[in-house]
Amino acid sequence: MLHQIGLYVHIVAILLAGAGGIGGAIVEHSFWQKIPSNIDAAKTIFPILKTTGKFIITGILLFLLSGLLMLQSVHWVFLSQPWFLVKFGLFLCLPIRAGLIAETAFMHIGSEIQKDQMDAVLLMKLKSKMRRFHLIQYGIVLTIIFLVIFRF
Ligand code: HEM
Repeated sequence: MLHQIGLYVHIVAILLAGAGGIGGAIVEHSFWQKIPSNIDAAKTIFPILKTTGKFIITGILLFLLSGLLMLQSVHWVFLSQPWFLVKFGLFLCLPIRAGLIAETAFMHIGSEIQKDQMDAVLLMKLKSKMRRFHLIQYGIVLTIIFLVIFRF
């Protein structure tokens, strides 16, 4: 029963993190389209990214809790299997990269759009930094899903 509850919550986590990820990507795309022509709209859109981020953080926490629950239900047997160790290592990269890269980039973007004279070059650099960040995060998630299915 513990395993089923864990798997159920794992699926809820996939839904939450997926919703936050897709929603965030749409909002961020529309944010960059408003720069620099419609800065007021960009300022209005920007805080929505905090909300989509909360969905992702909740999903990540649920992944961890439900994953631990399922591990416990199988007496931690996966801890000796390479596919799981790689999955767990990749999983840890997600919040660490978000904290180190996305959070600082968003702080810079947030303060830059408040200025009277925006630094367009800096903003474009931050835009491509975020693009690279997202592409690598998507790659990590796809690799995790590949690992849980094929278990190499
Ligand atoms: C982005 C993060 C994660 C994704 C996308 C993900 C995805 C999945 C999927 C799709 C399954 C179902 C596989 C199956 O039933 O055959 C699964 C199972 C499982 N996951 Fe995760 N997971 C993530 C994070 C974690 C974490 C952090 C842990 C551990 C703390 C974990 C532990 C487990 C366990 C123990 C199973 C059950 C495997 C089994 O008994 O067959 N997962 N995961």
